[in-house]
Amino acid sequence: MSIAPNNRRANTVTAVKPNKWSSAVKIFHWGSVLLLIVVWGMITLHEGSSAGETYLDLHRAFGVSLLFWMIARVISRVISPTPADLPVAKWQRMVSHLTHLLLYVLLFAMPLSGILMTWYGGRSIDMFGLFNLPSILATDRGQARFFNNLHTDVIWPAILVFTAIHILGALQHQFIKKDNIMSRIK
Ligand code: HEM
Ligand code: HEM
Repeated sequence: MSIAPNNRRANTVTAVKPNKWSSAVKIFHWGSVLLLIVVWGMITLHEGSSAGETYLDLHRAFGVSLLFWMIARVISRVISPTPADLPVAKWQRMVSHLTHLLLYVLLFAMPLSGILMTWYGGRSIDMFGLFNLPSILATDRGQARFFNNLHTDVIWPAILVFTAIHILGALQHQFIKKDNIMSRIK
């Protein structure tokens, strides 16, 4: 007597997508928001104070931390299941996905340009007094200026614009469409 396993049924079962992001994606999302606020807060304190480089050093150290956070975030995002898309028009889905992708790219570009401007400026990065990340680049004032401009005049305004679009989109869903989008990331 042969026992034939009923594989046909198992093969036809399609995976059901979850209706919210995984806990890891949620933690990385809100952790990035918090770190972004801290990094911005440090440069704002630096600009308004006469405490030398203390806040600027903290800006750099938290900025580098955000880069490492983003590396872990991408890994967690790739291995986490993606929730089913909300029922919205195709163009809205495209804008939402494109905004998410751009925010990822910008959150990498921001610390990288900061590191490059610092290293081309011939400085090392003091990580909270624990260790230094010494420059691995030959000092070049022109390149330092280029990455400085990119950091402050291009990438930062782009982060502000796309974060605003992202938040407005979330608010529109939450309060106008009332589809409780926040429960997917809370
Ligand atoms: C108060 C501020 C914020 C609110 C209320 C908010 C809200 C949300 C919501 C509701 C989702 C889920 C969207 C969906 O399921 O389709 C989401 C996802 C996402 N958000 Fe935000 N967000 C905020 C800030 C930010 C910031 C500052 C960034 C990056 C600069 C960001 C980047 C992302 C990304 C990339 C996703 C896609 C999920 C992922 O891959 O992690 N968010 N956000
Ligand atoms: C996501 C991470 C980062 C964000 C959001 C960020 C944001 C900013 C902002 C908003 C400014 C001020 C722009 C202005 O004056 O209008 C700034 C300046 C600066 N950032 Fe960052 N930054 C980040 C990472 C870094 C890193 C990793 C470094 C270096 C290792 C760095 C080094 C600097 C320096 C030296 C300045 C001063 C530039 C100047 O005054 O000319 N930043 N950053």
